[in-house]
Order: sequence, then structure tokens, then C-alpha cells
Amino acid sequence: MLNIATCIGIFSLLQRCSASWLPQQPLWPVALPKPAATSNLPLIIWHGLGDNYQADGLRALESVINETIGPTYTYFVRIDEDASADRQATFLGNLTTQVEKVCEDLASHPTLSNAPAVNALGFSQGGQFLRAYVERCNSPKVANLVTFGGQHNGISDFQNCASDDWLCRTWTGYLKSNTWSSFVQSRLVPAQYFRDPEDLDSYLDYSNFLADINNEREVKNSTYKENLEKLESFAMYVFANDTTVVPKESGWFAEVNTTSTEVTKLQDRPIYKEDWLGLKSLDKDGKLHFRTIVGGHMQFGEDTIEDVAKEYFKAK
Ligand SMILES: *[C@@H]1O[C@H](CO)[C@@H](O)[C@H](O)[C@H]1NC(C)=O
Ligand SMILES: *[C@@H]1O[C@H](CO)[C@@H](O)[C@H](O)[C@H]1NC(C)=O
Ligand SMILES: *[C@@H]1O[C@H](CO)[C@@H](O)[C@H](O)[C@H]1NC(C)=O
Ligand SMILES: *[C@@H]1O[C@H](CO)[C@@H](O)[C@H](O)[C@H]1NC(C)=O
Ligand SMILES: *[C@@H]1O[C@H](CO)[C@@H](O)[C@H](O)[C@H]1NC(C)=O
Repeated sequence: MLNIATCIGIFSLLQRCSASWLPQQPLWPVALPKPAATSNLPLIIWHGLGDNYQADGLRALESVINETIGPTYTYFVRIDEDASADRQATFLGNLTTQVEKVCEDLASHPTLSNAPAVNALGFSQGGQFLRAYVERCNSPKVANLVTFGGQHNGISDFQNCASDDWLCRTWTGYLKSNTWSSFVQSRLVPAQYFRDPEDLDSYLDYSNFLADINNEREVKNSTYKENLEKLESFAMYVFANDTTVVPKESGWFAEVNTTSTEVTKLQDRPIYKEDWLGLKSLDKDGKLHFRTIVGGHMQFGEDTIEDVAKEYFKAK
């Protein structure tokens, strides 16, 4: 889940990330008239682990979207205005307070809060975090939610770190030995969406994030379901050759047996059958989309973003 949505992650083949490539002048006048009914909704993008909201790759992405579907006001979610603190917050922090902060930021944002709705694109862990935003706050309301390589059903293993990445190595050490301690659950981000099907009791007892937003505990929060059911579409993209997210099928809410590797599809699980989150009703209405991108984690080209923008972010 590292190096995603960065220049290297997104557009390495396209060489579109250097500052010199970006247009020196804005492509559209800065003072736009008030959006007409047919203009594109604003887009909010939540980046992934190890990335920051000012990354060149994200800026390049914004250009591609503007070029493909016309002017689109894009807001990059951040936990901190300082880029390096924002990156650090992808590893460290309590997701309850992080999501709360994003709710407050969006609700008080002059452009976003006045829009009739927004669209949302989440990269990797940003996918399930945006879903949490919809479930818990949804003001401004999200029309179309698109997630790329998300971990909607959690991860059952933590990734290996490069030998010189001390930050990664430090948190992974804590994670592996102390996943369910309140110290780890309140501070280390990936632990808050860790979910081992062989040890569901610990998960249900101690998970600070995923067990709640997936409505897996005995008491269900009906607001979560009502809010997700308001989506016009929920598109989940899984990378066919993803070896970073374990298991990659988590991006489709599937559960994978950690010993037999048997995959239980969302439709065969209680979360769907008993419709804890509204996924079944979205599916029945043709609003839940299961999509595949051939490639490794967050390896996609401009054509993919163009297709996604045309299908989900262009004003109809
Ligand atoms: C994309 O369009 C929006 C809305 O007009 C504008 O604010 C933004 O600067 C544009 N971004 C790029 C990179 O062209
Ligand atoms: C359900 O979620 C909403 C939105 O986050 C919250 O306001 C409410 O208190 C929650 N209800 C329960 C019973 O936890
Ligand atoms: C995370 O923050 C919330 C809100 O402040 C708090 O209720 C919760 O206990 C914290 N989680 C942990 C595991 O400490
Ligand atoms: C996973 O598969 C093994 C072997 O088939 C089985 O014994 C175990 O109960 C399964 N675990 C879960 C959580 O279903
Ligand atoms: C990537 O996944 C696709 C679809 O599952 C498969 O056909 C292809 O062989 C895989 N490519 C690599 C390099 O593993």
C-alpha cells in the first residue's frame, strides 16, 4: 500500500508528473460563474497509505479529469495542512478522530458545503475511509463513491517493509505483536482495519474502526445503512494482480479463509444477506459495481481514470 497515487504509482508509464509538464496557467479562468445544473459535481479524493494530499501524482490526476470531462473542482482530503504531517497521519492516528476531522472540514468548506452533492474517489485505505465518511456524516452528500484497491473487508496480514523504511518497520513491529491493544488501536492506522476471519472475537471486541463501519457488531447503526443507500452508485475496483493488499478480494467485501484461501463472495455473507450496510439494496438497484483493473496495487494508467471520470464523475 506504499507508493500509491504518487507519480511513480499512478503515471510512471506516462511521465506526466514533472512540474514542468503541468500547465503554467490554469486551464480555466479562476473565477468561474456559479455552477450551473449541468456542471460536474465537486470531487473529493482521499489518498492512500504513505502518500500526502499535495503529491504530484494527484495534481496530474486532477488535470486528466479536467481534460476528460471538463472543469471539475477537486478537493484532496488531508488530515494536516502540512504535507509531511499528512503523510504521517496515514500511518499514525485514531481513525475515529480522523474521520471526524474530515467531516468537519468538508461540512465547513465554502465550495463543497454549497454543492448539491459531491463525488468521491478513494485510493487504497482512502476507499474505506470515504465510505466511513458517507456512513457517519455524508454532509455534503456523496453521489457516486468509487474505491480503488480498498480494504472494505479489512486486511488479514500486514505488508512487509523495505529494510530502510524505519517508520514502516516500527509500526509493523507494534502491529504484529499488539494488534488489539488499545495503544495500537488508537494510534496505528492499518491495525484499525485488521480483520482475521480466524479470530473474529478479538476483532469484534477491539477493532476501533472496521468492525464499527461494517456494522458487524450485534447492535447495528441504521444511519450507516441509510446513508450508503443514498449513493447513486458505489463502484469497487480491485487490482487483479494486487500482492500488497492481503487479501485483495477485500476490495469487493469478500472474505478469504486464511488457511484454505477459499473466497466467500459478498453475496454469500451475512453482511449482504441481512443487509447490515445497504449493500444488498444498492446491488438490487444496479448501483453496486464490481470492477477489475489488470495490474498490481494502484498500478493504473490514464485510460482507467478517463473511463472512471466519464462513467461516474461527468454531469449527466
Ligand atoms: C480543474 O478544474 C477546476 C474547476 O474549474 C479548477 O479549479 C482546477 O484548477 C483545475 N485543475 C487543473 C489541474 O487544471
Ligand atoms: C450511528 O451513527 C451516527 C452517525 O455517526 C451517530 O450520530 C449515532 O450516534 C450512531 N448511533 C448509535 C446507536 O451508535
Ligand atoms: C479513538 O477516539 C475516539 C474519539 O475520541 C475514542 O472514543 C476512542 O476510544 C479512541 N479509540 C481508542 C482505541 O482509544
Ligand atoms: C478455513 O478453512 C479451514 C480448512 O478448510 C477450516 O477448518 C476453517 O474452519 C475455515 N475458517 C473459517 C473462519 O471459516
Ligand atoms: C494479472 O491478472 C490477470 C487476471 O486475473 C491475469 O490474466 C494475468 O495473467 C495477471 N498478470 C500477471 C502478470 O500476473
